[in-house]
Amino acid sequence: MCGIVGCVGEKQAKNYLISGLHRLEYRGYDSAGIVTIGENNKADLLRAKGKVVKLEALADKKPSTDTIGIGHTRWATHGEPSEKNAHPHKAGDIYLVHNGIIENYKELKTELKNYKFITDTDSEVLAALINSLYDQNTTLADSVNQALKLVVGTYGIAVISVRNPDEIVVARSGSPLIIGVGDNETYIASDASALIGFTDKAIYLNDGEMAICRGDGVELRDMSAQPISCKVETIETDMQAIQKQGYEHFLLKEICEQPSTLRSTLSGRINVKDKEANLGGLNLSSDELRKIEHVVIIGCGTAYYAGLLGLYYLEQLVDGLTIDVVAASEFRYRSFHLPKHTVALVISQSGETADTLACLREIKRRGIKTLGIINAVGSTIAREVDGGVYVHAGPEISVASTKAFTSQVAAITMFGIQLAQVKGADVKEVSKYIEELAKLPDEIEKIVSKDKEKIEKVAKRYAQYEHALYFGRDTLYPVAMEGALKLKEISYIQAEGYAAGELKHGPIALIDDTFFEVALLIDNWLFDKSLSTLEEVNARGGHIFVITNSKKAIKSEEIIRVNTKLDILAPILINVVQQLFAYYVAVARGNDVDQPRNLAKSVTVE
Ligand code: AGP
Ligand code: GLU
Repeated sequence: MCGIVGCVGEKQAKNYLISGLHRLEYRGYDSAGIVTIGENNKADLLRAKGKVVKLEALADKKPSTDTIGIGHTRWATHGEPSEKNAHPHKAGDIYLVHNGIIENYKELKTELKNYKFITDTDSEVLAALINSLYDQNTTLADSVNQALKLVVGTYGIAVISVRNPDEIVVARSGSPLIIGVGDNETYIASDASALIGFTDKAIYLNDGEMAICRGDGVELRDMSAQPISCKVETIETDMQAIQKQGYEHFLLKEICEQPSTLRSTLSGRINVKDKEANLGGLNLSSDELRKIEHVVIIGCGTAYYAGLLGLYYLEQLVDGLTIDVVAASEFRYRSFHLPKHTVALVISQSGETADTLACLREIKRRGIKTLGIINAVGSTIAREVDGGVYVHAGPEISVASTKAFTSQVAAITMFGIQLAQVKGADVKEVSKYIEELAKLPDEIEKIVSKDKEKIEKVAKRYAQYEHALYFGRDTLYPVAMEGALKLKEISYIQAEGYAAGELKHGPIALIDDTFFEVALLIDNWLFDKSLSTLEEVNARGGHIFVITNSKKAIKSEEIIRVNTKLDILAPILINVVQQLFAYYVAVARGNDVDQPRNLAKSVTVE
């Protein structure tokens, strides 16, 4: 979801601006631009539709010694992707980049009758509004502050002016912004990955805050223009974590590094010998945990499916606990009711998803405890929940979420174990989950180190289909939905995940030679039931690819057998096979695997 960069100080600005935009490409975008201000207060504005490399080519043609500038990668919401609509937007003496949506841009536009708009965007209206307030008596910061008070919507913005080319004014409400503190240099970024190699000191701006950034320092203010203190934090991510390290795509790297990232998630939190799980950071006493009777799990996309799989484990672990799993984009508009003794699990890889954040804020408003299961350290959701855990999966660069899913499910399972323990569950029952969690990284390692070639071969067989139906029972139902999401978002094959038992209630009508089916089976108490679904599909000429941990004979076109002793957590292994399958299908179709069309890594708009 769009990227913002900026820098001011003594160094040549373009270097950071272009480097920072490359680092933020993974967030998803359709156009890009930068503006710098140099001698004689002359502005140099460059914009391009498409990839940052196109913008970089334009910048290379115009060597610059300018030491202040801002840049942007745009994920269009208002106005088609085009050079004209690309940011930065110019309005009089100011230049602005914006992440978010100005919801009342039409009303504001009518107030700016004399302004000649040249783009179709909502962001240009904000630029024009700031410019209209930026007269000789008003500082840039004050005009930004006054303009934002008239705005309804979400924003992360950076603004510079040719009248005062020594400062960048930034502000945020609903879209992330970080200020990097360097030596006589100040940087702006949407997330920490842009700052790596430039500085490891950052100020995380909160909603309702703005800042005046100069080469020699940062002045933080609230929206009443009152100064507020700056908390400078250290960025933990390093360069290695944001590089492909020899893999062709970030997606393959992130799938294959799951053994180590899952170990990070589990580290210090499960104790096999003592048969215990302990998630520090919940900020809940044992007594408060014991009183929990209802859990509502909130997320979007893959995070939502991780919650759906986690539901099954929570139900199995904690007698009497009732659980709801909701898609944040729906839940936030429902007239929902939550019973007493509810706790909300808020799941998000980026910690910036607008719909999930909106749900969090509404649930907190109702006085309900919120626990985050988040990957991005210092993200907005991570800073606003009452407690929770970081899954420590490291930066997830590829738009398709993979390693985060596995870590999220593990974290929810550990939460269930901890809840079961304080509620007096049978240690023997609970210890099975702990033992399987402890073995899970090695079991994933077996797949990502030995099974890639055979999965790639199956993927090539189905890569040219345009329709797919995934199905599974019980814990394999959410896994089927996640597998379908992975396939559709990177291969663009229309794919649907279904509860196996539901196929005969309609979807089985779809089966013909234009479809292939992915059937998920586990050798457990539901195996025979799942076989009967398979027979129903086979009888109608299905083209079935089975993924299973069973060694039994199964009739199908293709089969990948996961050789594991895990039973309860076997669905997570089956999902790793699905991740690799989707990856190889997308590669076979020649797609942009890490930045699929139309998608953003972090959906910070609604
Ligand atoms: C998953 O592969 C997608 N990229 C998308 O559905 C994602 O899971 C969703 O946008 C939620 O993102 P979050 O975990 O950062 O909140
Ligand atoms: N709403 C703005 C536009 O469409 C900004 C979108 C973004 O966050 O990139 O240009």
